Formats: sequence, C-alpha cells, structure tokens
Amino acid sequence: MGKVYEVKHPLIQHKLTMIRHKEVGTKDFRALVDELAMLLTYEASRDLPLEDISFDTPVAHTTQKQLTGKKLAVVPILRAGLGMVDGILELIPAAKVGHIGMYRDEESLEPVEYFIKLPEDIQSREVLLVDPMLATGGSARDAISALKARGAQKIKLITLVSAPEGVEAVLAEHPDVDIFTASIDEGLNDQGYIVPGLGDAGDRLFGTH
Ligand code: PRP
Ligand code: URA
Repeated sequence: MGKVYEVKHPLIQHKLTMIRHKEVGTKDFRALVDELAMLLTYEASRDLPLEDISFDTPVAHTTQKQLTGKKLAVVPILRAGLGMVDGILELIPAAKVGHIGMYRDEESLEPVEYFIKLPEDIQSREVLLVDPMLATGGSARDAISALKARGAQKIKLITLVSAPEGVEAVLAEHPDVDIFTASIDEGLNDQGYIVPGLGDAGDRLFGTH
C-alpha cells in the first residue's frame, strides 16, 4: 500500500499557514508555493539511490557518496501545479518536465483532461507528479492513470494541501503511489473546496477569478 507522508517540518507549517491567509496577494503566494514545493521535494527525494565515488580532496584520498543519476521527471497538473515546478528544479535541475492539463468541472467536480505532453523516456524516469491541491482526488487519480498508460512505473505525488477524501481516492486506485503533503486538512465543503484549505490555488497563483 502506498504511504502518506504529512511533512510537519516547522518551515513547511509556517509557510503553509502564510498562504492560507486570504489577504496574501499573488506575488507572495507564488513565492511561498515555490518554497514549499522545494521543501517537500527534499523529503520526497530521501530514497534517491547513492553510489560510492573515490577521489582526492586537497588533503586525502577518500570514498564518498553521490547520486547514481537516476532519471527524474517533474509533471505538474495544469494549471496550479506549474507554480511548484521551479522550486523543484532548483533542487533537481536535470529533471525533465512533462505537463498534464486537467480542470475540474465545476458542477460534477469530475476532472477533464485537455493536454498531455511527457518526456519520451517517461518509462525509465521516476515521476514527481505535482499539484498544490488534492481535493476529491479525481484530478490526481486520472493524472496517475494517464502516466501509467504511457509507461510510467514509479510515481510520487506531491501536494501542499490534501483532503482525507482525496488521499483515500488516490490510494484506492493507485496503492503503489506514495503521497507527500504539507497538510491533511479537515475535509471538503459542498462546493468541493478543501476546508480550511487556501481557496482556489490556480486563481491565487495566476491572479484570475
Ligand atoms: C484544482 C487543483 C487540482 C484540482 C483538485 O485545479 O489544482 O488540480 O482542482 O481537485 P480534485 O482533487 O477534486 O480533482 P482546477 O480544476 O481548479 O484547475 P486549475 O489548476 O486550472 O485552476
Ligand atoms: N482546487 C483548489 O484549487 N482548491 C480547493 O480547495 C479544491 C480544489
């Protein structure tokens, strides 16, 4: 069964609290989403494989660890996932970036896919699927299915705010996926918004309504 990591680092909690405030404007919201994505990636990359390398420091010959160079892909769910990409690339600059366009129908709350473009060798890359919000879980669930249909084998989902319903929905259909999130909130309201949440992440990132 996939695991859920609710990452309770003080910096993450503090920055998440800041973006929950409804007064926070687009510029600060964007910067904080970027920083939170970077901090969560630190946690989600804990199991990256290392290998030994021998070399000379100015003082002695030594054997130390380095990353094996396992290939990664960062895949944001458009639009809001875009706000997390730069923060992740700061830590993993060699990662390739794919895109999955999906919006939630406002009436049915069902996800509608409208775009997908992935690195050609997605089968051999570990995928970090990113979206700030995991609400009903429909968007993430379908995005993971789309990735698997194109050959992706190892997928981690990174979100900022999750509803318990969304976590359950993703793990029910994709028990092989681990979820890293800054918070599992109380639940969903009648309009499918996460409570207390932070509102519409895409609109707040891009200044739309
Ligand atoms: C939001 C959010 C997720 C989705 C979560 O996107 O960024 O993709 O809703 O909801 P779910 O778990 O119930 O599927 P939205 O559809 O508002 O599109 P946007 O990113 O273009 O604003
Ligand atoms: N999408 C958002 O952007 N926010 C929510 O609370 C739920 C879905």
